[in-house]
Amino acid sequence: MRVAVTGPGGRLGRAVVAALARAGHEALPLDRHAFDLDAPEGIGKVLDALEPELVVHSAAWTDVDGCAREPALAMRRNGEATGILAAASAVRRIGLLAISTNEVFDGEGAPRPHAPRDSPRPANPYGASKLAGERAAADAYASAGAEGSLGIARTAWLFGPGAPDFPRKIAAAAARARTAGEPLRVVADEFGTPTYVEDVAEGIAALVSAGRTAGMHHLVNGGEASRAEWARDVLERLGLAGVDLVEVGLDDFPRPSRPPRWGVLEPTAVPATRPSGGGASRFLRPWREAMAAYAPALRESVTMSA
Ligand SMILES: NC(=O)c1ccc[n+]([C@@H]2O[C@H](COP(=O)([O-])OP(=O)(O)OC[C@H]3O[C@@H](n4cnc5c(N)ncnc54)[C@H](OP(=O)(O)O)[C@@H]3O)[C@@H](O)[C@H]2O)c1
Repeated sequence: MRVAVTGPGGRLGRAVVAALARAGHEALPLDRHAFDLDAPEGIGKVLDALEPELVVHSAAWTDVDGCAREPALAMRRNGEATGILAAASAVRRIGLLAISTNEVFDGEGAPRPHAPRDSPRPANPYGASKLAGERAAADAYASAGAEGSLGIARTAWLFGPGAPDFPRKIAAAAARARTAGEPLRVVADEFGTPTYVEDVAEGIAALVSAGRTAGMHHLVNGGEASRAEWARDVLERLGLAGVDLVEVGLDDFPRPSRPPRWGVLEPTAVPATRPSGGGASRFLRPWREAMAAYAPALRESVTMSA
């Protein structure tokens, strides 16, 4: 299948392009010259030239504090630009899989995983702008009578190659704390599911291969953790378990954007990709198993930057 991917240089987009290629699809990277969130109107011509059958829309303004400082700009980039891409795709009968976030939920209330059917209610401007993107895409496909060609894939707490992720930030913060002779302070009352970007990308490729991208997907690894539990896992894998970790509250780290305290998504299944899988489905593996798979690359990148 010919699949265009926006944001192909980002953490997820890069992995999606690679996973699609491994699965035998023709991945067409749409970098910001081909699709600019600040000037999205030209996308129709690009789609006419490339003729994809599906677009995976991974590009976004992911600076959550930046979104909080400039909410109108966040709405334009993550909301309106998604709507323009969706409208251009829908009228051409091109499918869309729009990547979204657990931050469409405010994370207040009972600590149970957010299901795909739950009503979103974002607590911060980044989440509001991503929800606006989901809704603009749904409106565009409904107007074109093509609802069956739209998928939304929410994910959360991505780690993996690319710009410094939470594990690498923790490694750097632990090194600084040790040098300063101070404890490492990590938030213990914010919960989510650490999710390996390579697993999400494989899941997306499996959905594409099976023709099952439509509908609402929650593509996250299994289980849940607080930031502090995740940080401890990172320190153990890096042989830094002796670092003194002190648990603090979200309120001790005031930021322009407040993350959801409870950001756990109820995972949805993806098609099994093994030959014996038939029409079977599977969930992405538990997050600690995914961290174990990532650990060699994490150790190498931490050693290189030391
Ligand atoms: N990271 C997470 O933990 C997380 C969690 C939940 C959901 N998500 C969602 O997952 C998707 C991918 O996130 P990510 O972690 O891969 O983000 P990322 O690493 O920040 O990559 C974002 C991508 O968007 C592109 N982009 C940014 N501004 C743009 C603009 N004005 N015009 C065109 N392209 C622009 C970037 O282009 P350049 O490469 O040129 O900079 C980059 O390729 C996003 O939709 C995000 O909302 C992420």
